[in-house]
Amino acid sequence: MILVTGATGNVGRRVVERLLAAGHPLRAVTREPSRANLPAGVEAVAADLADPETLRPHLAGVRAVFLIWPFTDPAVTARLAPRVAEVFAAAGGPRVVYVSAASAGEDPDSFWAVVERAVAASGVPWTMLRPTGIATNALGWASSIRAGGVVRWPYGGAARSLVHEDDIAAVAVEALTSARHDRKTYVLTGPRTVTQAEQVRIIGEAVGRETKWLETSAEAVRPMLAGAMGSPEFADSALAGWARLTTEPEPVTGDVQAVLGRPARTFEQWAADHTADFS
Ligand SMILES: NC(=O)c1ccc[n+]([C@@H]2O[C@H](COP(=O)([O-])OP(=O)(O)OC[C@H]3O[C@@H](n4cnc5c(N)ncnc54)[C@H](OP(=O)(O)O)[C@@H]3O)[C@@H](O)[C@H]2O)c1
Repeated sequence: MILVTGATGNVGRRVVERLLAAGHPLRAVTREPSRANLPAGVEAVAADLADPETLRPHLAGVRAVFLIWPFTDPAVTARLAPRVAEVFAAAGGPRVVYVSAASAGEDPDSFWAVVERAVAASGVPWTMLRPTGIATNALGWASSIRAGGVVRWPYGGAARSLVHEDDIAAVAVEALTSARHDRKTYVLTGPRTVTQAEQVRIIGEAVGRETKWLETSAEAVRPMLAGAMGSPEFADSALAGWARLTTEPEPVTGDVQAVLGRPARTFEQWAADHTADFS
């Protein structure tokens, strides 16, 4: 039995679909099973990572957990992550495959790094998946592209190595189902960097519509970003990160290829997979 948190999210949904297709028994965690809209045959269970005790009843017989972390506040994370990890350890120590972030390797105070340390300290077997950025971030431009194609956003020259959410899911399923990946940390990226302005052009080509990048200031998007990301501090760190990526492109690794034996998918492939979201 495999427990999937974030089962209604971008990566988690793909993990659920892949486990289901491969015939692995799974339990899908959501705060609201009635709204989860999961594939037929998937057992949706109610739990909230903000209340770690709610996970406990669903861990019976579980040998692996797919873990995402929805809290961006480091203080909240410092309080909750050790309790969540302790619930896993007390339930027999299932393998934990955590979707962290490449930032965890650069900033030990980031919430991602705090979760990694809590999981590792609990003594359970673990695999850390550190995407640089998930291509689904580009869905934030979907309403602008649908409404005429003009994207007003800062740092068009920020070069990102965005990774397809389904490549993360494919790596996660490998790690959930094999001990070969225990105690491994993978930095998951796409096969090359693509600037934000290029991403908008590529999406336009995929949907067959003209799109335009309209460079705007960081100040103009900061309030909206703070709301979407859950904290002004997190929004500021994202803006500072994009500013840096205009001169220092994000790294590209071969970790997707190393685990899956095939190259990571390109942003062009991602856009082709998501034309419905932008049309
Ligand atoms: N976006 C990026 O570029 C990026 C980069 C590096 C790392 N990451 C990491 O990647 C992970 C997965 O991203 P994603 O895009 O798949 O996530 P997502 O689509 O934003 O999914 C959020 C999920 O979190 C669940 N959730 C929210 N609050 C919860 C709570 N209190 N308790 C339990 N579940 C809760 C939601 O489930 P319900 O609403 O059904 O409860 C939903 O399934 C994230 O943890 C993020 O930190 C993202």
